[in-house]
Amino acid sequence: MSDSEKLTILSGIQPSGKLHLGNYFGAVRQYLEFIAGGHRCYYFLANYHALTSLRDRDRLLELTRSTAADYLALGLDPERCSIYRQSDIPEVCELQWILTTVTPMGLLERCHAYKEKIQQGLSADHGLFAYPVLQAADILIVRSNRVPVGQDQKQHVEVTRDIAQYFNNAYGEVLTIPEPYIPEEVAVVPGRDGRKMSKSYGNTIELFASDDEVRSQIFSITTDSAAVAAPKDPDTSNLFAILKLFCSPEETAAWSDRFRRGGLSYREVKQAVFDAFTKRFGAARARRRELDDKPDYVEGVLQRGAEQARLVTRPLVRQVRDAVGIPN
Ligand code: TRP
Repeated sequence: MSDSEKLTILSGIQPSGKLHLGNYFGAVRQYLEFIAGGHRCYYFLANYHALTSLRDRDRLLELTRSTAADYLALGLDPERCSIYRQSDIPEVCELQWILTTVTPMGLLERCHAYKEKIQQGLSADHGLFAYPVLQAADILIVRSNRVPVGQDQKQHVEVTRDIAQYFNNAYGEVLTIPEPYIPEEVAVVPGRDGRKMSKSYGNTIELFASDDEVRSQIFSITTDSAAVAAPKDPDTSNLFAILKLFCSPEETAAWSDRFRRGGLSYREVKQAVFDAFTKRFGAARARRRELDDKPDYVEGVLQRGAEQARLVTRPLVRQVRDAVGIPN
């Protein structure tokens, strides 16, 4: 690949809960593909963002450390991408402030996390309101071109584009305008109850829970009460949608037939999901257990990742400062 074909990829996950199937199929799998494609990749832990929902010091520290280990176990290779903690890049908050000064209130008032909270009659804090500007800083600070995310983050990438345009209109072409990357088939990963899989709904299947926990999460996927003999509609089945994540197109077609024909028990399907899960994640789960004994290694990866990222973030912020009239 020539340098001109190389894209800069950035994405992040909030370390506010345990990684689950939605994180994998909606994000991490795409992260791996971009690494395999030879692109410049930055994958970080959005621990400042996590503060908007998590107020528990020890838990935040622990989740930040364990999510980094999860990333490594899933195959994000620190030799081929930079993995870092958001908070280790001080330029992010500096850029965020400058971006707030070109961000219209109305743009943020339309953002869903804030809007939903207000609609429920709850009062939001400023962090939640400003959340998308911090995310814009994350994205713009490494000049990323593509941002692999799930459907729920599309709005935030669009807001990032808007903010970058406002900045460039005011100060010249300084910032790179990124695009979201959302493969259609994984745009929304359904949870155990059929809503989007999300730690905030408590409907996840965790990647690194114990075998027993994973089994009980999979066996609690909700289904209708159709009898074994009855034909079943795969297109409305949440269980089928989860199974499909693991299947080739041929396997999907075969399962779909079996649903429609009748004579299939949901128990058998759940067992198939469990087996596919174990097959897909068995090696990663073993690596994850080993990493528990190597906290220094994980910490080293994060520190190196931050150093690599800062080779880019420092000059970017210098350029932004210069553009707006803040002395370097
Ligand atoms: N808001 C994202 C989420 O909740 C996490 C995030 C923070 C992020 N900064 C980002 C994702 C930058 C992509 C790019 O999933």
